[in-house]
Formats: sequence, C-alpha cells, structure tokens
Amino acid sequence: MTRTIDGNEIADGISADVKASVETLRDADVQPGLATVLMSDDGASETYVSMKQRACEELGIEGSHVEIDPDEPAAVLFDRIDELNGDPSVHGILVQMPVPDHVDKRTVLERIDPTKDVDGFHPENVGRLVAGNARYKPCTPHGVQQILAAEGIETEGKDAVVVGRSDIVGKPMANLFVQYGDGGNATTTVCHSRTEDLATKTRQADILVAAAGVPEMIDGEMIKAGATVIDVGVNRVDTDTDKGYELVGDVEFESAKETASAITPVPGGVGPLTIAMLMYNTVKAASLQSG
Ligand code: GUN
Repeated sequence: MTRTIDGNEIADGISADVKASVETLRDADVQPGLATVLMSDDGASETYVSMKQRACEELGIEGSHVEIDPDEPAAVLFDRIDELNGDPSVHGILVQMPVPDHVDKRTVLERIDPTKDVDGFHPENVGRLVAGNARYKPCTPHGVQQILAAEGIETEGKDAVVVGRSDIVGKPMANLFVQYGDGGNATTTVCHSRTEDLATKTRQADILVAAAGVPEMIDGEMIKAGATVIDVGVNRVDTDTDKGYELVGDVEFESAKETASAITPVPGGVGPLTIAMLMYNTVKAASLQSG
C-alpha cells in the first residue's frame, strides 16, 4: 500500500514546538518578529505571504508586512530593506520572490542582513550551508528533510534524485542531501531542463524530489518501485471551476501512487512544512539576535 504523507500533521507537530520556543523567548522579554515584503501583484505570491502572516499570528510571532508597488524603482525596495535591517524588533526579513524584472534579485538577497535572512538565500548563508555549517536552512528543503525524518525514511546511503535546480529548492535540497549527518549522506543526483534521458535517472531514485515547476512531468513509469516521492511543485492549471484553476504538483499523483511506497500530495504535502520551517528560522533568528 502506498502511503500518502500528511504534511499538515507533520507541520502541526513542528509548529507546536516552535510555539513553545516563542513562549520561552517571550518569558525572557524577547518578542520574535518577522517582516514580509511583497513587491508583486501576483495572486499566488499574495496568498503565500498571507499564509506566512497567519502562521505568525498563530504562533505568537509579531508579523509585519510591507507592500511595494511593483512599478516603483528598485531603490524603494532597497530602502525598505535597510529600514528593516536596522529595526531591532524585526528578527527575520523575507522578500517574497519573484521580484519584478527591473529589480535585480541578487542585489535584493545581498541587501538583507544575513543574520535576519530567514529564507537562507543570502550568499553568506548559502556558503555556510554548503560548508556544512548552516545558519538558516532554506525552508522548503529543510521541510522535505523533516518529512523524511517524520516518516522514518533513512537518507544515508540512498540514491536521492532532485529534479530542478532552483536557488530556492533544487540546489539547497541537493546540498542538504550530500551533507554529513542526519537527513544527509545520500548519493545525490540533480536533474534539470538540460538533462538527457531523465527517466533513467529518476528511476534510480530511492528518494525522488520533484521541484521543476512543470505540471505532472513525473509519472509512475519514471519512478522506481517502492521509492519515496516528494512533490514540491505547486502549479496553477486553468480549469472551468469557479476558482478558474486547480493546483497540481510536478508529479502525476494517480500513476505515481501505483509505484511509490510513500508520496506527498499537492496541496497538503510539502507546502505546510515550508511555512513551519520559516517560523522555526524566525525563532532561531530571534534567539541568535538576543543571545
Ligand atoms: N517564492 C517561492 N518560494 C519562496 C520562498 O521560500 N521564499 C521567498 N522569499 N520567496 C519564495
């Protein structure tokens, strides 16, 4: 029987621990604070940011939100980041990606104080992660590690295949898998848009992480019998429904379920973990900054 992994349940367990840590910090007169910044009118980005703010509210983290018109010059965003860097009540800063084309993404990421970079995207934090000395593990790949741990799925010595090489998921995921220690020690392959004969590679995976952003690109035939399949994709596909779209992953769930031993659904799989790990990083930031 294939197990459908309940990401909400795993995230709830982590959130309960984070909430307890928030209370301990508050007892010591430290109120953890997270600032989100949105410079976009993309509906999905708006939804993600409001989910992050709601999670703050639920866990006792002080959430603040900055919205910048996407037509404004980049300098407006940079000035706001500078203000947040200098605000001691803000321990974590998250600029929702993507930013508009006229704003250089790398400059944004480098502008955020690395001690407040709870996404873990600043080059200093990327370097620390690669060096095996992470300060903030990027939320989605860290969430995938939490799923595997909660499900008792060992990574050591296993073949892990990551499909997708984004800075947000694919690259840090692969880096975590190759690190020493729990959740690492995996033999790791990264596949991407230029990979030849993708199916041969994905069929080698004991643990397959799909993070390419292509709707249902992985089907059951591309999966080794008994593999664990983690679907990071969240793709809006147009439908005739009232909402006008439905969310589908990078994995064709129905056929994948026939081959995999465990699989995350979309929605309700990795998504809740991304938010829980952001809250975790925010508490860690507050702790580091008050220590
Ligand atoms: N856009 C999609 N995922 C993420 C994320 O984890 N963090 C930020 N800042 N932007 C995103």
